[in-house]
Amino acid sequence: MAYVISFANQKGGVGKTTSAVNIATYLAVLKKKVLLIDLDPQGSATSGVGIQKHSVKFTSYEVLIRECDIFDAILPTNYKNLSVIPSNVSLAAADYELISEKDREYFLKEQMDKLKRNGDFDYIIIDCPPSLGLTTINALTASNGIILPIQCEYYALEGLSQLMSTIKRIKNSYNPRLRVVGILVTMYNSRLKLSSQVFDELNKYYCEKIFRTKISRSVALSEAPSYGEPIYYYSRYSKSSLEYEDVAKEILERTEFFM
Ligand SMILES: Nc1ncnc2c1ncn2[C@@H]1O[C@H](COP(=O)(O)OP(=O)(O)O)[C@@H](O)[C@H]1O
Ligand SMILES: [Mg+2]
Repeated sequence: MAYVISFANQKGGVGKTTSAVNIATYLAVLKKKVLLIDLDPQGSATSGVGIQKHSVKFTSYEVLIRECDIFDAILPTNYKNLSVIPSNVSLAAADYELISEKDREYFLKEQMDKLKRNGDFDYIIIDCPPSLGLTTINALTASNGIILPIQCEYYALEGLSQLMSTIKRIKNSYNPRLRVVGILVTMYNSRLKLSSQVFDELNKYYCEKIFRTKISRSVALSEAPSYGEPIYYYSRYSKSSLEYEDVAKEILERTEFFM
């Protein structure tokens, strides 16, 4: 059975997509069969793995609203063990279109269950949009675990407690087995006093959930997407590449027991 992990945070620009792309790639490098599902209409995860988002036949939008079978939307990438379900701006309509549907929270889960049973993948990584709308709720309903990327800045903790209550609500209503795999600190700069202060505060409340490795702020990480390359292929031995490798290994430790 595949283990499904959503990368979610209602804030934009916190490193969801960067983390989803690079962790999916590292899990694939570590010999796991990985499917990356782009569930953000911006399509950054799609282009981040080198797929032209406007030239694809089916996207996560058609999958979500059941206009195509999930198997038909899966594309191979140029990277070993890594496939993708792309997205583009068409997905922006999904939240609105789903609202009048019965069982609208379960649409993605239904599609995903077929895929999980089929056994083609070990890990399915979902890159969520920066909102807590129906698209994200569908992702969390279909997931085994969630990873919360967080940037150590002033309002981070407030956003995190809101997100934690959403997770609780989804657990109670739609997906009792959903668990927090971990909180991932991104774009960390230890020389910034605010970063370390926020990190200390975060540590007080969520100590055991925070990944051992933090992702540092790095130029290579922000450059790699414009070449359609995950950091492993763009700059294998850069600091942030090795950090993502460590996090991927930690994810294996934290999830393999449940597979
Ligand atoms: N560790 C990092 N160091 C430097 N830039 C980063 C880092 N992580 C992400 N970025 C950049 O920050 C921006 C927002 O990141 P992104 O992963 O797209 O966030 P989200 O998906 O949460 O909106 C992007 O331009 C990305 O390239
Ligand atoms: Mg994103």
